[in-house]
Amino acid sequence: MATKRSRLTPSDALVLFGVTGDLAYKMIFPALYAMVESGALTVPVIGVAFPPWSLAQLRQRASDSIGQSGVAVDRRTLSRLLSLLRYVPGDYQDAATFAALKTALGKAKRPIHYLAIPPELFATVIQGLGAAGLSRQARVIVEKPFGRDLASARELNAVARAEFAEDAIFRIDHYLGKEAIMNILYFRFANSFFEPVWNRNYVASVQITLAEDFGVTGRGAFYETAGCLRDVIQNHVFQIVALLAMEPPVGRDYGAVHDEKAKVFKAMRPLRSRDLVRGQYAGYRKEPNVARDSDVETYCAVRLFIDSWRWDGVPWYLRSGKCLPETAAEVLVELKAPPVRLFADSAPVRGPTNYLRFRLSPHAAVALAARVKRPGKEFVGDQQELFLVEETLGVEPPYQRLLTDAMIGDGALFTREDAIEAAWVAVEPVLAMHPRVLPYRRGTWGPKAADALIAASGGWLNPKPDASPG
Ligand code: BG6
Repeated sequence: MATKRSRLTPSDALVLFGVTGDLAYKMIFPALYAMVESGALTVPVIGVAFPPWSLAQLRQRASDSIGQSGVAVDRRTLSRLLSLLRYVPGDYQDAATFAALKTALGKAKRPIHYLAIPPELFATVIQGLGAAGLSRQARVIVEKPFGRDLASARELNAVARAEFAEDAIFRIDHYLGKEAIMNILYFRFANSFFEPVWNRNYVASVQITLAEDFGVTGRGAFYETAGCLRDVIQNHVFQIVALLAMEPPVGRDYGAVHDEKAKVFKAMRPLRSRDLVRGQYAGYRKEPNVARDSDVETYCAVRLFIDSWRWDGVPWYLRSGKCLPETAAEVLVELKAPPVRLFADSAPVRGPTNYLRFRLSPHAAVALAARVKRPGKEFVGDQQELFLVEETLGVEPPYQRLLTDAMIGDGALFTREDAIEAAWVAVEPVLAMHPRVLPYRRGTWGPKAADALIAASGGWLNPKPDASPG
């Protein structure tokens, strides 16, 4: 959804808190490099972090990060980025750090502050910015996780809103910057043929799978505070649900999309313990910084209902997990079978009758499955997919797209206060009251109990390794 970009005022400096951290190394420097290349970044980038590094050390770190990211490095682009870098070392608790930042900002009047730091420091830094007068005319980008339950999300929203206007706060969910996920919104509302069937009268169920074939990869300490439900279901997967379930927005203004998405979160029926299966892969408790008796889930399957006119009674099955057989994300919207069984094979023995499949990653595709008659005298057929591969070569990676948007104040691909809080309301009952984790073997599709959760709707359809037609 377009915002009138010409009306938006660009930020005149980018302040990167947590510049020496992992996220900056893995994601942000490569994004900044691409932004310099595209011309989207021409203003000073002021890194802030605790280590007493020199600017030369920071530049080295940035070069290493870009080198490892796999891009063909252009020397001139890299040196342009390095020349924009500044470094302010200091403790976020210390007012002197913010005073030094103010000096480093020089003439910049409209900085954007990016909090790529552990969540427990978000409030400290926001308040530090406010006390130093650095929040005026400024914007702030807040990394995930935004809160760890409803109370902490509300508190963080209150802290942020005390210093920044809502349209100056950019809460990141990098899934919203992914091309295949933006296409869900486009596909739904740029075509008219689906709207008549996109409701409880025709949709039998919806499945969303976000599978990863690797474990917590050194993030044990963080994962112990989060678990799969908080790490990806409440945010990334719920955002996909909202795009699939929302009503048509009333206009092209992106606020209209936010309004409709927020209504979906508000209509989500709060989860009950029996709607949830929690799993833990074998060996998780031996990962570094993980408790030997950890009850944190590395797999989560959820049965969700959206209490709205459109979706009443339609089950939404969401699952995500680490150490599963594939790394793939897919949505399957299963349509009801025809009302009369005219042909012997009208209701297939296995699998849904008709469905729409959005393949989100690793490749993007949209497929519509329908039954087609086999040549011959008999009225029997096969289920075949009409298959559209999305061309994603050359698209901006999510961080590049999101940072570029935030720097000009375009909040279309970010999340809004009311939506985040409503999403926490939906998961709140099971954050504390939930079944214990069930073990599963690495390389399997999670605990067996997850199959029972979806049994009434015919079972999970596991994404295949590639996006090819089914
Ligand atoms: C992050 C989670 O937000 O999303 C990770 O913290 C997860 O645990 C990742 O692996 C998945 O993102 P992507 O873009 O690799 O699918």
